[in-house]
Amino acid sequence: MNYSTILLAAGKGSRTHLSYNKVFYKLDSGKTVLETSLDLFLNDPDCREVVIVCAEHEIDAMKQLITPDARIRFATGGETRQDSVANGLKEVRNSYVFIHDAARPYLKKESLADLKDALQHEDACLLMIPSIDTVKLVENGYVVRTPRRDDVFRAQTPQCFKTSLIRSCHEQAALDRRQATDDAQLVEWYSDVPVRVVTGDEANIKITIPADLK
Ligand code: CTP
Ligand code: MG
Repeated sequence: MNYSTILLAAGKGSRTHLSYNKVFYKLDSGKTVLETSLDLFLNDPDCREVVIVCAEHEIDAMKQLITPDARIRFATGGETRQDSVANGLKEVRNSYVFIHDAARPYLKKESLADLKDALQHEDACLLMIPSIDTVKLVENGYVVRTPRRDDVFRAQTPQCFKTSLIRSCHEQAALDRRQATDDAQLVEWYSDVPVRVVTGDEANIKITIPADLK
């Protein structure tokens, strides 16, 4: 199945406390976070296009960093992650799109294969892992409810969609000026399309805080 990837790299990485955007951080392999995330998709022949979404002032640095590939294109980031995805979606040309945080360089190719399998029958799916912690809902500093732990999962990326579906959900959210926590939530809000859970991998962390930098 052919698909496009939106690789989100337009954040600031402020919580990592580096003096620069965390996607430029060099991992033990010698490759940066951005290159590592990018290569996983470029090594998949089904991935026909990667739209890297980045801040205007970092486009040149990113172009210098990555090995040129005819499938790579660039889009400009927005104020929020959701705005960045919306900008990336304007550039997407395939019928299916994988939306991925560049800050998740430990994604495995087996997970990509599982997502592609799911898309044979579904129009929306995402990687999720079961919560090992008990999660409690809290209001004003008091616990109001404890969901069954078996019902609680943590969302990761990639999140994958039929392009026409996620585009229309983003357009409606923009009209409503509503910000979701992730792209799957926009599908939950603005469509009846079921969002399929694909079991992910604990290693697929999003580099967020200093402890994630190794
Ligand atoms: N991102 C983006 N555009 C934004 C904000 C975030 O493309 N306006 C991207 C980031 O580059 C990252 C991913 O979305 O790959 C996940 O966001 P997050 O982990 O929050 O990264 P940052 O926003 O960069 O980090 P922080 O919130 O700590 O500043
Ligand atoms: Mg952020």
